[in-house]
Amino acid sequence: MSRKKIALVGAGQIGGTMALLAAQKELGDVVTIDIAEGVPQGKSLDITHGATVIPSSSSLTGSNDYSAMKDADVIIVTAGLPRKPGMSRDDLLEVNCGIIKSVGENIKEQAPNAFVIVVTNPLDAMVYLMQKVTGFPAEKVCGMAGVLDSSRFSSLIALELGIAAEDVTAMVMGGHGDTMVPLTRYATAGGVPVTQLLDAETLEAIAARTAKSGGEIVGLLKTGSAFYSPALSAIKMAEAFLKDKKNVLTCAAKLSGEYGVDGLYSGVPVVMGAGGVEKIIEVELDATEKAAFDVSIAAVKDLTEWVESNVKG
Ligand code: APR
Repeated sequence: MSRKKIALVGAGQIGGTMALLAAQKELGDVVTIDIAEGVPQGKSLDITHGATVIPSSSSLTGSNDYSAMKDADVIIVTAGLPRKPGMSRDDLLEVNCGIIKSVGENIKEQAPNAFVIVVTNPLDAMVYLMQKVTGFPAEKVCGMAGVLDSSRFSSLIALELGIAAEDVTAMVMGGHGDTMVPLTRYATAGGVPVTQLLDAETLEAIAARTAKSGGEIVGLLKTGSAFYSPALSAIKMAEAFLKDKKNVLTCAAKLSGEYGVDGLYSGVPVVMGAGGVEKIIEVELDATEKAAFDVSIAAVKDLTEWVESNVKG
């Protein structure tokens, strides 16, 4: 079996962390690409220096040239600007559209069979643009947000209960913004519905904190946004694809009729394996959950329409 190739476009906080994680997991050879001269080369060399300690047989290289992604199996895109305090994810829209467009054109040329995971914010609009620019089938282009938002939700529930985070399963659907929809009714701890373990008020507070978690980190860091947990989440998706794990993960997937939505990307549970987004799972939503999901979809639609009318070509 030949070695897999993982291309990370963007060698910033998330890109560098993903390079380390991919090497630790020996997912394949890792190429990191960035416009900042020396940064992808320096981070790759730094991790290479630690390869015997990990230990890892992955080869790590850095480049300022998009051609380095040639024939990659997986491409994870974090190229773009992160949030600063006071900025919403949507404030990043215009500048990151330009970046995603040029990265997408290069992906189309260099790695036409790649599975593409977009992380750049505002996520749902950026992944929409990536699929449009590459022209790849929808199942080969998805966005990382739901794994992270769901993990944030699970970890906060686990903290409240004083139990291991790995025993909590909880899901967040909808757009990756303030309108995201934590599905409290479906959350379980060791198989027990958390609605039997925590009162409604506490669960509501946890759901609200989940939706604002990204902003909470931005407020604390002051110079950028979250990167450890986003990197862990994107690498989990890459691993599901590379190892054909058929994991059930929430990610930004293109809907074609599911949940009454057509042609937009939004966070939904999917089966992820060698085919990429192999299946979109339709969860039964009650009236309140559906109303919240529809509000979130309306926010995604606004951003997507902006992309449609402002990004040419
Ligand atoms: N091609 C390649 N790399 C680029 C390009 C481009 N056209 N434009 C910018 N970059 C690089 C920057 O040089 C920087 O190294 O993207 C990198 C982004 O890294 P950080 O600023 O550290 O941002 P990070 O925290 O990694 O977040 C990246 O993910 O979660 C989202 O909102 C976040 O949109 C942001 C993205």
